[in-house]
Amino acid sequence: MKKQRTSSTGDKDSAISAKLLVLHGPNLNLLGKREPEHYGSVTLDEINLAMARRAATAGVDLEAFQSNHEGALIERVHAAFAEGTSYIIINPAAYTHTSVALRDAIAATRIPFVEVHLSNVHAREPFRQHSYFSDLARGVISGLGSEGYLLALEYVLIQINKN
Ligand code: DQA
Repeated sequence: MKKQRTSSTGDKDSAISAKLLVLHGPNLNLLGKREPEHYGSVTLDEINLAMARRAATAGVDLEAFQSNHEGALIERVHAAFAEGTSYIIINPAAYTHTSVALRDAIAATRIPFVEVHLSNVHAREPFRQHSYFSDLARGVISGLGSEGYLLALEYVLIQINKN
């Protein structure tokens, strides 16, 4: 499990007071070493750092959480609800294709979310082409590598600025 927090910088953009959560599912702690032909060479720490930096410049609070355990991810979603989290960016990893329980957790909270996959799941095995999340997601980014997370964050920042 990994946790990383970035707090509001207090600059002029920090009129936006929003909490964002980035959730990473199982095996994503191995990014950088894991099947680089599918997932690239960027590590999870590097992804989290890039997102934390972008969130800091926007003056929003961003926390990243990775777990290899379904229940831990579900409990983190429940905590996000209690904390008043505005948006979730989630790569459910293999739970994308299996976890009704994690889907139900997000559905229960009604926290808007963006689903991200590093690889293009539609160009891979048939079992990866069904997601328990996509129909509930605001949108899905798949196949753009680690930059997909930053693109998802840009979208979320635009939405937050509208409110
Ligand atoms: C993944 C795709 C999933 O099918 C796979 O189980 C993962 C990573 C991706 O980011 O491309 O673990 O979500």
